[in-house]
Amino acid sequence: MNTQPDKATAKTAGTAARTPVVEVKGVNFSFGQGEGRKQVLYDNHLSLYAGEIIIMTGPSGSGKTTLLTLIGTLRGLQEGSLKVFGNELAGLGASEQEKIRRNIGFIFQAHNLLDSLTAYQNVKLVTELIDYSPGESDRLTSNILTKLGMKERMRYKPQSLSGGQRQRVAIGRALVNRPRLILADEPTAALDKETGRQVVDLLRDLAENEGCTIMIVTHDNRILDVADRIVTMVDGYVASDVDVNESLTIVQFLKKCSVFETFTPTLLADVAGKMQRETHPAGTVIIKQGDEGDKFYIIRRGKLDVLKESMGKVDVVATLEAGAVFGELALLRKEPRAATVKSVEEVELLTLSKDIFMDVIQRSASFEEQLRRVYFAR
Ligand SMILES: Nc1ncnc2c1ncn2[C@@H]1O[C@H](COP(=O)(O)OP(=O)(O)O)[C@@H](O)[C@H]1O
Ligand SMILES: [Mg+2]
Repeated sequence: MNTQPDKATAKTAGTAARTPVVEVKGVNFSFGQGEGRKQVLYDNHLSLYAGEIIIMTGPSGSGKTTLLTLIGTLRGLQEGSLKVFGNELAGLGASEQEKIRRNIGFIFQAHNLLDSLTAYQNVKLVTELIDYSPGESDRLTSNILTKLGMKERMRYKPQSLSGGQRQRVAIGRALVNRPRLILADEPTAALDKETGRQVVDLLRDLAENEGCTIMIVTHDNRILDVADRIVTMVDGYVASDVDVNESLTIVQFLKKCSVFETFTPTLLADVAGKMQRETHPAGTVIIKQGDEGDKFYIIRRGKLDVLKESMGKVDVVATLEAGAVFGELALLRKEPRAATVKSVEEVELLTLSKDIFMDVIQRSASFEEQLRRVYFAR
């Protein structure tokens, strides 16, 4: 069976061989030594691409900050592979790490602003890492602080600013050099709703217009709408990694199928997350009339013919397109496949195994009710 990685998001369609900006493979991490040694990250895998906004969530202590600091080269890698901008961090020297860090904007909970400097000076300081002309440096500094609503307070020192204002200065400092990657740990926690929204809009603008990759660790569900992907960490590993637009598309497809009509959005999203992806060339027989049913299918892309054979004659009885579902009848009725389904062109299919399909439908309405719905619909 031919499986392919997801290429379906509109934003990235057509760029099949994308190189990740961050690629985490098999990363483990432990704190402490000897008896006191405690493993906190287990076999993590994650790839982040240009222009994506990734929201990372999960319970406190699940390893989000640890993973973020490893990606940011603020902590040494112990086990596994971690590439940032194509550079392997394992065994990388200090000066190379420093070069990588220069392209990363950090927004962390502890702002680390310098108390003796004004908001303006705190931001301008980091522009000195880059060879801007003095005028350019000033222009970038006042632009970013203005965008963050800090125009009137640029000359204030941190102790004269509120928590939210200090956070905005810290954000200005992270964004002023237009980094390729932004790592943010709870960036909106100290902000009121309106400022939080401003910050998020600014981040979205950077992702869309400059291809910046933005990873935000947050529990703030007010900003979920900016996410292209939602990654959940549990007990030290990436427990789920959902492409939001793709998941919404699958949910829309599922809702059109009578079996899933009564499902809540939560259940539908759960089913979408359980689906596997397969790609097949033109002319592939996906299911064969008379065979036992083993899967349920949704067509993600491409066309398929439904063929029925009777008395030695084969007829095309229907053509199915993207969004159509098939294969559920044999699973529900425990009968052989009633028809053959064959691809007309290259197709991408989403599937659920029989066991998972039966498990999810039994979690919603009763099995009998599902069966009645299916008979009613056909
Ligand atoms: N500097 C440290 N020394 C020892 N243990 C730590 C340290 N930092 C974090 N931990 C532990 O590592 C685990 C993961 O922490 P962390 O990455 O901060 O989780 P999260 O950001 O998801 O809340 C927790 O059990 C935490 O107690
Ligand atoms: Mg944390």
